[in-house]
Amino acid sequence: MVHDNEITNKSKNRPFEDILQARMSRRNLLAKSVMLSAGGFVTVVAGNQLQQAIAHPGRERHELRNRRGFWRRRSRLLGFEAVKVADGNGPVPVISPDYEYQVLIPWGTPIQPGGPEYDGDPNTRPTADEQAQQVGIGHDGMWFFPIRERSYHGMLAINHEFGRNSHVLGKDDPESLDDVRLSQHAHGVSVVEIKKGRFNGRWQVVGSHNARRIHVNTPVTFSGPVAGHPLLQTPAGNSPLGTVNNCSNGYTPWGTYLTCEENFNGYFGATDEWTITEAQERYGFTENGFGYGWEKFDPRFDLSKVEYENEENRFGWVVEIDPMDASQTPVKRTALGRFKHEGVALTIGRGRRVVCYMGDDQRFDYIYKFVSARNWRRMRAEGISPLDEGKLYVAKFNDDGTGEWLELTIDNPLLAAKFKDQAEVLTYARLAADELGATPMDRPEWTTIASNQYVYCSLTNNSRRTETNAANPLAPNPDGHIIRWRDTDSHVGTTFTWDIFVIAEDTHGTEESFSDPDGLWADPQGRLFIQTDGGQKDGLNNQMLVADTRTGQIRRLFTGVTGDEITGLTVTPDQRTMFINTQHPGNGDPTLTNFPAPQGSAKIPRDCTFVIVRKNHGIVGS
Ligand code: FEO
Ligand code: CA
Ligand code: CA
Ligand code: CA
Repeated sequence: MVHDNEITNKSKNRPFEDILQARMSRRNLLAKSVMLSAGGFVTVVAGNQLQQAIAHPGRERHELRNRRGFWRRRSRLLGFEAVKVADGNGPVPVISPDYEYQVLIPWGTPIQPGGPEYDGDPNTRPTADEQAQQVGIGHDGMWFFPIRERSYHGMLAINHEFGRNSHVLGKDDPESLDDVRLSQHAHGVSVVEIKKGRFNGRWQVVGSHNARRIHVNTPVTFSGPVAGHPLLQTPAGNSPLGTVNNCSNGYTPWGTYLTCEENFNGYFGATDEWTITEAQERYGFTENGFGYGWEKFDPRFDLSKVEYENEENRFGWVVEIDPMDASQTPVKRTALGRFKHEGVALTIGRGRRVVCYMGDDQRFDYIYKFVSARNWRRMRAEGISPLDEGKLYVAKFNDDGTGEWLELTIDNPLLAAKFKDQAEVLTYARLAADELGATPMDRPEWTTIASNQYVYCSLTNNSRRTETNAANPLAPNPDGHIIRWRDTDSHVGTTFTWDIFVIAEDTHGTEESFSDPDGLWADPQGRLFIQTDGGQKDGLNNQMLVADTRTGQIRRLFTGVTGDEITGLTVTPDQRTMFINTQHPGNGDPTLTNFPAPQGSAKIPRDCTFVIVRKNHGIVGS
C-alpha cells in the first residue's frame, strides 16, 4: 500500500529516540559489522550482538557466521530450487520449478456460483450492487478455515485493502453516489467457500450458506472498553457501518477471523472549512484524504460535517468475523486499541491468556501487544470475549538488546493528565503511546510467532529516518529489515530481548535479494515466509521468499507480476496447499500486464489469489 508514507508522529519520542539513543550512523554501523566479520560475508547485525561483539568479538563472529555467508550450514528446511533473480520479473508470475500455482478468486468473482461476474473488460465495470455480490479488490491478509479439519474444503476469509479509483471505477474521481458505492463495496472482506476438485485437483468457489461480503456499508458493532462511549457517537445518530482498508489479519483459537483496519484516514476528506484536531492530525487526516472523493457524495466521510463528528473514530480497529456464520455481525474489538492496524498475530501465553502482537504501519510508529485478562477458555465460558478485557502495551526497544512493554492505562499518571478515561486512551492509542516514550519504528508491518517462540516483525522501510537507534539501525532505511524478540514469562511479561534477523540491504546483489519485507508467516517447522511490497533491487518484481530461521538462509519461491505486491498467506491444515495474493498487479494498468487474463488480451489486470502446491505433494516451503 502506497499511503503509509507520511509522518504523523511529531511526539518527543522521535527526537529523543533519534538523537539521544542513536549514536551510530549507518556508515559506522556497517563499517563495524564488516570489521567484525573480516574473512566472511556477514549481514546480520543485532543491537545486542553488536554491543557484545565490541566486547567479545570472537564469540560474536561465531554467532554471526551461522546466519549468512560462507560458513553457513546447509538448510535442511529449504529443499526447493529457487526462482533466480534473473527470472523474477515480467508481466506474469514465476514459481520455483518444484512448485505449481493456480489462480483463484480474482476481483469480480461471484461469491456464489452463478452470481454476477466481472472479468476485467476495460470498457465496463461492475455496478455497486454487483460488486456487493463479488470478491472485492486489493486482496491482502486472509485465512483458511477448514470444514471438519479437511485440507480440501473450507471457508476462505480475505481482506480487500484498497483499490484506486482509476482501477475500480475507470476514472480518477467519482461522479455520483453510485460511483462511491462501487468503490466502497470493492473494499472490506469476502468470505467464500472453496473446495478442491477430487479428480482435477483444482480449487473452486462452491455454493455456501455462509459466503458473504462485508464492506464499508455493512452493519457492525463495537465491544470492549470503548463500546457505548461518546467518542463513538455522532450527532446524526447513525448506526455504525463498515470496515475499510483491511490490511493483514489474524485468527483466534475459537475459530474466528480478525481483519485489521489500516489506512482508514485516507477515505475521509472535507468539502468545507474544518479545524483539524490534535488526534485527527496524529492519525493523518487531511482535506483530500487519498483522493477517493467519498466525502463529495457520502457525508459520513466528510470531516467538515458536524453531524458526522466522531465518525472517523469508528475506524482503525481490529474486527472479529465468524467465517462459519454469515448471520453474525462483525465486532470491532476496542480493547486492542485504535491505530493503523497492519495485522495481528495471536498466541496463547502463560495462564492460557490470549496474546496479540500488532504493528502500526506508519513511519515512526509503534509495535503493540494485548494480553487478555484471564484464561481464554474460562472467559468464553463466562460469556466474555478474551479480546474485550485485558491490557494493551506499546514497545520500547533499548539499545542494549532488551525491551519493555509499557502499559497504556489510565492508571498511569502520565496518561491520566491527558485523557479522561480508558476509552480515550484506547481510541487515541497513538497519542497515549507518545506520552510513554515508545520507540518509533521503521513502519511495523506483519508480525508472526515462530516455533522458537521468537516474534518476527517486518519493518518495511523508512526513507525519512535521519538518525539511527539499535532497533532501527539504518538512516535512511529504504529497503527495511526484520526484527525479532522473545518475551519473558511466556508472552505475558513486560520485558523482552530482541535482535535483528535480517537487513534487506545486505541481501542485494546476491540470489537472496529482497527489499521492503511486509507479509510474514512462520511455519511450525522453522521456516519464515517473507513477502515483499516495494521497489525490489536487482530487477526483481515483488516476491515471496522462505528463510530458515536457524541458519538464516533465504530462498525465493515465487515472484509476482509487474507493479504488484505479494501479500496474504494461509495454508490448509496439512500445509500441502498454500494461498497467497497479488495485490494491484500492474497498478491496474493493462499496458503493463493483463494478468490473470492472457497477455495481449487488453483485459485490465485483477488482484487474485494463488493456490500453491509442491509438485511432489510435499509441504509448502520444503
Ligand atoms: Fe497494508 Fe502496511 O500494508
Ligand atoms: Ca498493500
Ligand atoms: Ca502490508
Ligand atoms: Ca507495505
